Amino acid sequence: MNTNPRWATIFSCVCVSCYATGCSCCFSVLVAACRGDDPSGNYYYNTSICQTQAFTCGKVEIRYPFYLSGVTGDVQGNSNSYCGYPGLAIACEDGGEPTLSLGNRDYNVTGIDYSNYTISLVDPDVLKGDSCAGVDHNVTVPPTFYLNFTEDTVGYLLFGTNCSIPSLPNQSDIKPTECASSDGARRRYSFVIPLNMPIQVLLLEEYCQQVTLAPVLQSALQQWSTGGYRDILTQGFQLEWELNRRPSNCTKCDNSNGRCAYNQDGEFVGCLCANGRVNDQECPKGHKRISKIGKELLCWLPFHRLLFPDLFITKLL
Ligand SMILES: *[C@@H]1O[C@H](CO)[C@@H](O)[C@H](O)[C@H]1NC(C)=O
Ligand SMILES: *[C@@H]1O[C@H](CO)[C@@H](O)[C@H](O)[C@H]1NC(C)=O
Ligand SMILES: *[C@@H]1O[C@H](CO)[C@@H](O)[C@H](O)[C@H]1NC(C)=O
Ligand SMILES: *[C@@H]1O[C@H](CO)[C@@H](O)[C@H](O)[C@H]1NC(C)=O
Ligand SMILES: *[C@@H]1O[C@H](CO)[C@@H](O)[C@H](O)[C@H]1NC(C)=O
Ligand SMILES: *[C@@H]1O[C@H](CO)[C@@H](O)[C@H](O)[C@H]1NC(C)=O
Ligand SMILES: *[C@@H]1O[C@H](CO)[C@@H](O)[C@H](O)[C@H]1NC(C)=O
Ligand SMILES: *[C@@H]1O[C@H](CO)[C@@H](O)[C@H](O)[C@H]1NC(C)=O
Repeated sequence: MNTNPRWATIFSCVCVSCYATGCSCCFSVLVAACRGDDPSGNYYYNTSICQTQAFTCGKVEIRYPFYLSGVTGDVQGNSNSYCGYPGLAIACEDGGEPTLSLGNRDYNVTGIDYSNYTISLVDPDVLKGDSCAGVDHNVTVPPTFYLNFTEDTVGYLLFGTNCSIPSLPNQSDIKPTECASSDGARRRYSFVIPLNMPIQVLLLEEYCQQVTLAPVLQSALQQWSTGGYRDILTQGFQLEWELNRRPSNCTKCDNSNGRCAYNQDGEFVGCLCANGRVNDQECPKGHKRISKIGKELLCWLPFHRLLFPDLFITKLL
């Protein structure tokens, strides 16, 4: 409780004169003082940084712990803090399609499942329909992000590009893809292989200029065929957001229906409550708050009874 003694003293003085003149609004003023509702303090945040309602971007429902990219504010002196977990910024350009950024690359968000904490992403190059797309980079999740690949659902497609040989040793059934290129006079080949096949990344690295791993759905991998890998890529991949990454203050905050605020370094900076206040770890619960006010009143009762016993009792009855 952030009771500010100075305010309380000022208000109790106001109260004394209030009671003396029979003013009845005094109690609410006193209660406000006891609760520490000091509008001049910096325990308040700009409530517009938290989406109070879920909203739809494209076909995807966006709500906490996701937040709109760029919607930030000052929280306890931390500028550009946001209302959500690190890494869960969704860009919804011109109300269009939702995207999420991982390591300076944007991925299209095709779904968010709030019951199993899963977000589905697709590489935009794959959606554009480029015939050899989506395979020129690894997908890296920055370490501060509360996101990780889902162990159960993720598989990988291994891509080897600009390879010097038209077929891999002892893997005659693996044909090069259409994405061949030429390097001057020499023809270059590309291969795509499910990671669970008995072939080593090292083998590809020996013959190819670049090797990348594209995360895909394990279920989609079952449709594997050299020609059909694009269908697998189009289904994208899934990441889960990890509640166990939250510091205990944030867990308590979430459990009290507050929203965790983090700064740009991914550090928890406060618990944002619906009443516009920032707390260390929890938002007041309705009944708890009443009982706290009750306690405050009890602590003030003797003081008033001492000064104005008759008046006070008359007011209560
Ligand atoms: C709160 O944030 C909104 C949007 O950024 C801004 O328009 C508004 O002026 C801010 N209000 C205050 C009191 O700072
Ligand atoms: C995918 O995201 C890109 C921006 O990165 C956007 O231009 C494109 O329209 C999105 N495509 C779909 C199908 O949502
Ligand atoms: C979560 O639910 C979605 C469907 O809503 C499903 O596709 C996905 O496999 C589930 N993920 C996990 C990790 O259970
Ligand atoms: C991500 O998941 C993998 C396996 O599922 C696990 O080994 C790894 O520690 C997780 N990463 C983080 C940062 O939790
Ligand atoms: C290919 O198979 C032959 C015979 O089974 C074996 O001797 C050779 O080491 C294999 N090569 C590679 C690159 O695995
Ligand atoms: C493949 O080789 C071509 C021609 O040398 C080059 O332009 C391209 O950047 C290379 N791609 C990769 C992924 O190495
Ligand atoms: C992608 O990741 C694989 C496995 O970690 C690595 O061998 C490969 O060099 C990486 N490729 C790029 C382009 O970073
Ligand atoms: C987390 O809660 C503890 C206990 O109330 C407090 O001392 C600490 O300052 C809080 N941390 C933050 C970042 O608010």
